[in-house]
Amino acid sequence: MSVTLVVGAQWGDEGKGKIVDRLSEKMDVVARYQGGPNAGHTVVIGTEEIILHQIPSGILRPHTVCIIGNGVVVDPVVLLQEIDFLKSKGISVNGRLFISHRAHLVMPYHKLLDTTRETAHGEKKIGTTGRGIGPAYADKYERCGIRIVDLLDHDSLRTKLRFNIQEKNKVLQHLYNGEQIDTDKIINDYMEFDKLIDDYVTDTSILVNKAIEEDKRILLEGAQGTMLDIDFGTYPYVTSSNPIAGGACCGLGFGPTRIDHVMGIVKAYTTRVGMGPFPTEFEQEFGDRVRTLGSEFGATTGRPRRCGWFDSVIVDLAVRVNGLDSLAITKLDVLDSLEELKICTAYRYREGDDEKILHHFPAEHWVQDKLEPIYETHPGWCSSTQDARSFSDLPDNARSYLKRISELTRSRISIISVGSERDQTIFID
Ligand code: IMP
Ligand code: MG
Repeated sequence: MSVTLVVGAQWGDEGKGKIVDRLSEKMDVVARYQGGPNAGHTVVIGTEEIILHQIPSGILRPHTVCIIGNGVVVDPVVLLQEIDFLKSKGISVNGRLFISHRAHLVMPYHKLLDTTRETAHGEKKIGTTGRGIGPAYADKYERCGIRIVDLLDHDSLRTKLRFNIQEKNKVLQHLYNGEQIDTDKIINDYMEFDKLIDDYVTDTSILVNKAIEEDKRILLEGAQGTMLDIDFGTYPYVTSSNPIAGGACCGLGFGPTRIDHVMGIVKAYTTRVGMGPFPTEFEQEFGDRVRTLGSEFGATTGRPRRCGWFDSVIVDLAVRVNGLDSLAITKLDVLDSLEELKICTAYRYREGDDEKILHHFPAEHWVQDKLEPIYETHPGWCSSTQDARSFSDLPDNARSYLKRISELTRSRISIISVGSERDQTIFID
């Protein structure tokens, strides 16, 4: 039996797409358990960059079965585009892609509410991807969401949609003075989606558990990252689901006793998109330099990512709440040309004359906003790591940097990525 769970251990965009792609070489099943079209998983094959938002990146390996679990919110428009895109690349999804009939749908009114609310919040906005994620999960928990299974019963679907749209229209009109939604168009569009996605829809919990029983090799792929987790992230600057390891069980419908290995993905430095606290964020000029070196622009929205030093305090939180067994370090090569590197080992927090040293990431947002990182400085290696294929191929200073990360996070490093290509990867036994 082998169930491996891959989670982001920072603010997302850790390079999970590439690691999942590499690991799926040896997997029978790859499954996603939360998030939705807000995710953007990038895989580079030769000169081609493939970005997937909803379908697990494991689909790029022809032998895998891919599952979109009940914990994911599915935007049928994006899903169908993605299926067409894969078909245009000669990748067939028929008989290989399965979507939970319990998954909730992202509706056009969710996207409209997401973007309208963000605009209304101005400076205080969260900086969402505008894909309707928050409102879709809000409806799920409000118990007025539309699930894929609901598409089967046209009469009750019409009733539910009419009620929902009436309510959303009132909110849009009275609170935001915004655009109104056309009920009939949505009803017709979603009836049409029903036909188009029908082949892929099934009870994926049964599928996952059957695969576990049959000793299949299974990879569970989280989207976003621990610091964007609705419970443990920098609330309210988070996404509306649980990217952490525990989310996998609820989001796919299997028990925690079945997981064999939890791997955390971390960048060799830190990035985040959107607003919210980021203690180790670089100053403007240096940030621009690293953003260019790492091509740090969002895969879903194209927004420039904020960049900063490696923060071992947030990764420590990730180790704890995910129960990480090992780390995969990505984009080490981006640091190749830097003369000097810093690692944050703790924070200083001042309140009046009072000064505290914090070793754990605090929950109070007013404290999160004023954390001063305590750094140790490491010499850079100023040479290329892109051709390294084993740990011993790496320059001494790169090895020391990684060993220190491993020490501070009390984690074993099992994979190091040194470039965007599939083969630019070091596996450590
Ligand atoms: P939402 O998930 O679109 O509601 O956005 C909430 C926050 O999560 C924003 O800061 C987004 O930038 C961030 N976010 C959502 N999805 C991703 C992702 O896949 N990678 C990185 N950040 C993300
Ligand atoms: Mg991403």
